[in-house]
Amino acid sequence: MFGALIRIDSVTKRYPDGTVAVDRLSLEIPDGAITVLVGPSGCGKTTTLRMINRMVEPSEGSILIDGVDSRQQPVNTLRRSMGYVIQNAGLFQHRTIIDNIATVPRLLGWSKDKSRARARELMDRVGLDAALAKRYPYQLSGGQQQRVGVARALAADPPVLLMDEPFSAVDPVVRKGLQDELLRIQDELGKTIVFVTHDIDEAVKIGTMVAVLRTGGRLAQFAPPAELLSSPADAFVEDFLGADRGIRRLSFFSSAGLDLLTAPIVAVDASAQQIAARAGAGAPYLLVTDVDGRPLGWSEPDRLTAGRVDASRLLSHGRPFAAGRDSLRAALDCAVLSPTGWAVAVDGEGRAAGVVSQQAIAEAIRGAHQDSAGRTEVLR
Ligand SMILES: Nc1ncnc2c1ncn2[C@@H]1O[C@H](COP(=O)(O)OP(=O)(O)OP(=O)(O)O)[C@@H](O)[C@H]1O
Ligand SMILES: [Mg+2]
Repeated sequence: MFGALIRIDSVTKRYPDGTVAVDRLSLEIPDGAITVLVGPSGCGKTTTLRMINRMVEPSEGSILIDGVDSRQQPVNTLRRSMGYVIQNAGLFQHRTIIDNIATVPRLLGWSKDKSRARARELMDRVGLDAALAKRYPYQLSGGQQQRVGVARALAADPPVLLMDEPFSAVDPVVRKGLQDELLRIQDELGKTIVFVTHDIDEAVKIGTMVAVLRTGGRLAQFAPPAELLSSPADAFVEDFLGADRGIRRLSFFSSAGLDLLTAPIVAVDASAQQIAARAGAGAPYLLVTDVDGRPLGWSEPDRLTAGRVDASRLLSHGRPFAAGRDSLRAALDCAVLSPTGWAVAVDGEGRAAGVVSQQAIAEAIRGAHQDSAGRTEVLR
């Protein structure tokens, strides 16, 4: 589906003191996708990233960009084709936000007006309020600074973005926002992104391909996230993925195949007959909705009084999942958290699309495993 834009071909980096930071690493980094390098501290992630734009020169092996050996290209041309983003954004403290973002266009000889217009456009693209343009970096939050770092790296529209733990210094909530934003930007702009992290959850979330490195700069596995979770290459990768990889893998299966029941759903103004008819619908509880069909909560059928349901006496329906759009993991989570053991699915407008039991979800999970492996797969 993708061509390889960057080909790392049996590259070794030996620092002058003899440290082998990267050991015969080969990777084909796909065009227009996010490739994540992940692994424990000191495993050679930063060294690998810096060899791509020649901030560090390989000791052995070669790196091809679009088929051309990176050593054949003038280093300035090479670096200009690759935006670089680091932890804590690395902004120029004495420059305003807008001038930070306009740095590379200015270096390329664009006029001040054109550079600033481009910077404004990028602020919008990365979700920064235009009012921040005239501030200095210290007047921004960590998350905002990271956005400026991304905008600055994108300013000259380079085909490649190199990102070294760009979101590690921000809190989990901001981090999730930045990850979502990066996925959205990637979707819109189709850049080739090489992203370094030591966080396997981040790698699995944003990577199209994930390279797991082990200490000594050796490649342990290079695979799409779903494959990493289903078939770790060895005990090191399995360990690194953590204990709940079976659950996390469910993020890659759609909830679209779930059989949603609509019979156990009643509106808050339902008549006695409607309630009675639904009481035998195959679920121990009925989901009560408002008159527009939005879920209010669960009730045992015989506790419902026709025409006047006391919403405060309903059992919470928890957080529903988006039918077909959310994953089996989201559906399972809903069911597990639901006091009735049943998950509620909603449509795009938040109206109840159906309900599904834990048991039905478990069956769908088994089916998904079989489909993905072409055989019954035993989760290790
Ligand atoms: N300039 C250098 N001289 C000597 N050794 C170095 C140099 N830079 C890095 N190293 C060593 O190379 C190895 C890989 O370092 P690198 O910075 O690439 O790791 P990393 O995976 O990015 O780690 P972290 O997750 O901590 O950022 C480490 O053992 C490090 O100490
Ligand atoms: Mg590093």
